[in-house]
Amino acid sequence: MKIRLWPGSLAARTAFVLLLGLAIVQVAGLTIHALDRLDVQRLGQARDIAVRVVGLYRTMALTDPPRREAVLADLHRGPELMVTLGSSPPQVDLPEMPPQEQRLLRVNMNLVPLGAPQIRWKEMVIYGGHYWHQAVIGLRLSDGEWLNVTAELQPLRPWHSPAFLWAFLLMTAAAGGLTLWAVRRLTAPVRTLAEAAEALGRDVNAPPLPEDGPTEVAIAAVAFNTMATRIRRFVEDRTELLTAIGHDLRTPITRLKLRAEFVEDDEQRGKILADLEEMEAMVSATLAFGRDVRTTEPVSPLDLAELLRTILDETGDANPDLVDGLHYEGPAHLTVRARSLSLKRVFVNLISNAVNYGGSATVRLIDADHHMIVVEIEDDGPGLALGDLDRVFEPFHRGEPSRNRETGGVGLGLPIARNIVRAHGGDVTLVNRPKGGAKATVTLPV
Ligand SMILES: Nc1ncnc2c1ncn2[C@@H]1O[C@H](COP(=O)(O)OP(=O)(O)O)[C@@H](O)[C@H]1O
Ligand SMILES: [Mg+2]
Repeated sequence: MKIRLWPGSLAARTAFVLLLGLAIVQVAGLTIHALDRLDVQRLGQARDIAVRVVGLYRTMALTDPPRREAVLADLHRGPELMVTLGSSPPQVDLPEMPPQEQRLLRVNMNLVPLGAPQIRWKEMVIYGGHYWHQAVIGLRLSDGEWLNVTAELQPLRPWHSPAFLWAFLLMTAAAGGLTLWAVRRLTAPVRTLAEAAEALGRDVNAPPLPEDGPTEVAIAAVAFNTMATRIRRFVEDRTELLTAIGHDLRTPITRLKLRAEFVEDDEQRGKILADLEEMEAMVSATLAFGRDVRTTEPVSPLDLAELLRTILDETGDANPDLVDGLHYEGPAHLTVRARSLSLKRVFVNLISNAVNYGGSATVRLIDADHHMIVVEIEDDGPGLALGDLDRVFEPFHRGEPSRNRETGGVGLGLPIARNIVRAHGGDVTLVNRPKGGAKATVTLPV
């Protein structure tokens, strides 16, 4: 299994980078702090040892050589300090103390006041160091005797304080939490914009975005709203053009009808009048379509199952001989948010197509998952000719060339249905069933 380190979302990526940065800063800060504390502890230990060793030396230097052992035995030296007097420097199995550490110790020993300058030591050797956990210091007294001190060096502990640990954890948690919060807040407008774009795709009349918030967000919202207004105006202009053309065609058609009455030839007159009827029907349908598109019906809760059953009942009432061929399969109730009148027109169109061209209608409502609702409308008719399959959604395309009033309309049923369903964010398709007949599938987002 491949572990994905680079997250997908903008918020997660920003948070990832910021938290990584925070971690680096924290590690660097901790290191600096630790090094600093090590220095302080080293200095403290060096000073402590220096004071005690110089104190011992001073006492010995001011004591007569024969009495030194006795005085030394009486002195309170504290733990971690082993002192011997001898005629030679300390004999130890340790290397000389590293120069850096040695300098620290020497400087501190020189800083401790001796009292009398003439008792200053003649020679000093230092062995060991922190690595060996001990320092061995040999000081030669003026009479040649050596004072040899072995001091235990406590290990250095840079993270010793528990308060520091808690403070550090608290600081890290606070910075991390604040980062996550800020990132979520800052990337929220991107999500809002995506949702608005999605809503606009479903409905050009979707409410505009609020134009407030940080400057960049406000600018993006203004640009988005301007775009939405332009799209809306564009759609409105086209619809208006369509209805204006439809409207203006009515008068010449009426005039032509009157003139056709003067045609002598009965057969020709009949044909001309039939063509004009057809044109009139197309114009009326176009005008109705334009009207539909322009009415901005509000979105409201709608029981889709109830709606489908009602349409089937009404179809049955209008075609009593077909009642046996009408079926509904699906849940008894299913509420969706939609424009009820528009959606009713969609299913009326599809069911009447199934009944008119297929002689039956089986309507199946499927609550596919929690994102999509599917409605299938099947019939047992002849289905569609292959060449028709991709053209039936074109305006005024009909399987049979005559604009026969008996079998439906003028070829706008499917284009209108698709228009409405797409405005809801879904889609309509029409296919031939393998066993014969046609199947219309409507998908609607929940
Ligand atoms: N269920 C169906 N079975 C066979 N053909 C169909 C079916 N539904 C639609 N069609 C074909 O698609 C054409 C276009 O349908 P539509 O847009 O509803 O227009 P109209 O019903 O006014 O003719 C129809 O003329 C018909 O030829
Ligand atoms: Mg139709």
